[in-house]
Amino acid sequence: MTFKKNILCIGAGYVGGPTMAIIAYKCPQYKVTVVDINSERIDQWNSDNLPIYEPGLDETVKAAKGRNLFFSTDIKGGIKDSDIIFVSVNTPTKIFGAGSGMAADLQYWEKTARQIRKHAESHKIIVEKSTLPVKTALAMERILTSTDSEIHFDVLSNPEFLAEGTAIKDLENPDRVLIGSRETESALKARDELIEIYANWVPRDRIITSNIWSSELSKLVANAFLAQRISSINSITALCEKTDADILEVARAVGMDSRVGSKFLNASVGFGGSCFKKDILNLVYLCRHYGLKEVSDYWEGVVRINDYQKERFILNMMSAMFNTLAGKKICLFGFAYKANTGDTRESPAIFISKRLTEEKAELVISDPKALHNAMTDLDGVDGKISYTEDPYEASANCDAIAVMTEWEIYANLDFEKIYRSMIKPAFIFDGRNILDHERLFEIGFNVFPTGKPALTHF
Ligand code: UDX
Ligand code: UDX
Repeated sequence: MTFKKNILCIGAGYVGGPTMAIIAYKCPQYKVTVVDINSERIDQWNSDNLPIYEPGLDETVKAAKGRNLFFSTDIKGGIKDSDIIFVSVNTPTKIFGAGSGMAADLQYWEKTARQIRKHAESHKIIVEKSTLPVKTALAMERILTSTDSEIHFDVLSNPEFLAEGTAIKDLENPDRVLIGSRETESALKARDELIEIYANWVPRDRIITSNIWSSELSKLVANAFLAQRISSINSITALCEKTDADILEVARAVGMDSRVGSKFLNASVGFGGSCFKKDILNLVYLCRHYGLKEVSDYWEGVVRINDYQKERFILNMMSAMFNTLAGKKICLFGFAYKANTGDTRESPAIFISKRLTEEKAELVISDPKALHNAMTDLDGVDGKISYTEDPYEASANCDAIAVMTEWEIYANLDFEKIYRSMIKPAFIFDGRNILDHERLFEIGFNVFPTGKPALTHF
């Protein structure tokens, strides 16, 4: 079969994998190849056991794999044969040198640009999928055009807004697709080619265009706004716990104002995930760079409140459990940073686990999808930690349960059975407010929700 165009994606991760699976699934006329330097990851994509868990992903990949969706480690061949290259390599926060702990580490991304320049033999459209600091596309253009070669490259910014756990749904039915480009004739033509791909399944009025810098900045700002809502509601949980107000009632009343909206107001132990903290710190760094101290301080506050919320969770546990956790056995319900994913990057559960072991508590970690990642995250942590998928087994003989992830299974457990198997007094700290607190209290638990009055038997 001859294909209309060859699409290549460099980076077979949480973003590149699902995005390309959907493009291939929706556009059989394009050949889509995903390459990665990590051969183990590519082997997994080529097997029936995909490297990431995402509802609906298995079916989507299965329908397209071998037809017009291919996974490979041949980056050089992939570049040579492609017309359009999506770049979806990771851009973690720098952990060395200038901007350490804040700026984006662009080394993989720059290496990728150099690889493209080296192996390209014809015109290519380069699509930035990774979330990057503003003006990175400009740097990519410079790298690509820094030889005598006649080959022309058009660089577009096309940030991905999918959330993990709902990636397939988000990709199939996006709120918007944003494409940033330059205004040159060639760039506008490249932009139209990308629009043509998305228009196979996204309504045309949801595909919006902007200049390249607005597009890059929009992604950072969208994540900063989302995270800010969580820090805003979480900051109020502390006040609710002091005043007997109930965060669920406050969030409902506030969210019913249509100007505010009801989504993303779930109080929690804190936000996690690979993007929020990284992107906000990136924004903070950018503002500092331009001398905008007030603006950078404002956004940094979102991350500070998130750190405070996690530490507050520990302090609440301590004060509820008679000011010492040493020797107590604590079961974590969930380790993933949110439900329906096995991803644990920046999960609040990592911080909570480390702090609990510092307090000399013994940990039993339970999660339906994230135990493997949890073991890697806590590798080398000094303390007694065990891993058990079954929540009944995990909580038996424990002093307390701490809910870290809003997995639905935890809301529907037989808590009478769990109560009977635990050490008394038995405690539950609900970092996601997913449990029936009144009912747990009636069973005999001492219950500590987030941003609601505690229900205790003493
Ligand atoms: C990444 C970025 O972290 C995020 O900022 C951006 O918005 C989307 O891309 P994600 O897909 O979640 O997010 O990252 P990850 O799952 O780590 O995947 C990146 C992949 O790129 C890895 O499989 C890695 O092996 C690969 N990679 C990295 C390359 O193929 N080449 C490189 O030079 C570096
Ligand atoms: C986020 C953005 O939503 C997405 O658009 C972007 O492309 C990548 O970053 P993701 O991190 O996968 O996606 O998940 P998201 O659903 O946004 O949740 C992030 C964190 O916030 C999770 O830890 C989640 O549990 C927490 N959260 C979310 C809350 O604590 N309360 C809420 O009301 C919503």
